[in-house]
Amino acid sequence: MRVLSGMRPSGKLHIGHLSVLSNWLKLQEENECFFFVADWHALTTAFDETASIRVNTREMLADWLAVGIDPERSTVFVQSQVLEHAELLLLFSMITPLSWLERVPTYKDQVQQLAARGKDIATYGFLGYPLLQAADILIYRADAVPVGQDQLPHLELCREVARRFNHLYKPVFPEPQALLADTALLPGVDGRKMSKSYGNEISLGAARETVEKRVRMMITDPGRIRKNDPGNPEICNVYTYQTLYNRDLVDEITVACREGRIGCVACKARLAESLNAYLEPIRQRRAEILAEPGYLDDVMAHGQEKAAAAARETMRRVRQAVQI
Ligand code: TRP
Ligand code: SF4
Repeated sequence: MRVLSGMRPSGKLHIGHLSVLSNWLKLQEENECFFFVADWHALTTAFDETASIRVNTREMLADWLAVGIDPERSTVFVQSQVLEHAELLLLFSMITPLSWLERVPTYKDQVQQLAARGKDIATYGFLGYPLLQAADILIYRADAVPVGQDQLPHLELCREVARRFNHLYKPVFPEPQALLADTALLPGVDGRKMSKSYGNEISLGAARETVEKRVRMMITDPGRIRKNDPGNPEICNVYTYQTLYNRDLVDEITVACREGRIGCVACKARLAESLNAYLEPIRQRRAEILAEPGYLDDVMAHGQEKAAAAARETMRRVRQAVQI
């Protein structure tokens, strides 16, 4: 299978992203994968604050590579370095009825939300966001696209555009399938959605002390006042993390917590320790990647070359089909 996925350059990734990334790693084992940074997509909302896009692109690439995305095995690249995405978008824009874009459920919602915060986002580029995404996918004639639930309407539009093109001209494109992985949401240390904007995240490259500090901030069973009060792990955020990062100890912790034999401070110390053990190799690899001058540039150049070769072949077929 040819698999493709992308992320907007949001900068450093956090442990909440690990479920998506581990899915990518699995797919990478058995498929021809394309993973790219959607920096043009970042422009659809951040066209007036572009200064951080390049830095964020590099930070995110470093995280991908640190967790094991392999630029030899997969094609890892930056969207804006493969101009064919834009050419295909232009052709798609000729055949896509405006109403298809206007009815994408995220569109009106987001325009309104951002308008409420004083940002006018009713641009041509923003309306075309899902069409650019369709071009990203179809330029590689991808069969499958691992995405979150929120992206399903975009995938549906992508399939519709592929069908319309194939019908109008010649069958060039497969209709890509969404691959929905079970990406259980890991809450941030304050219990809300994990997000940099809340400052409740544990980033993949976080220093040991930062991990310890963030774990200490975590909300536990609020009914527990003294450390030998019986606790209820079911309502404890630390416990959610223990089930992921301390599988071997989790039964012991459950019983000890219920019987009031372990205090939250000790429980958190155990979590911080295993989280740090888990993150150590990622942290090291990440630091090495960023310390080696030119390494990320080489990865991007290599990815650009491989991606462009595949994209050019699609455009050859597209031009022939459209007769232009
Ligand atoms: N829209 C996706 C997101 O916000 C990012 C993205 C852009 C993408 N192009 C893509 C994902 C193509 C999959 C395939 O997460
Ligand atoms: Fe949560 Fe652990 Fe405290 Fe129990 S002991 S409430 S599981 S932090």
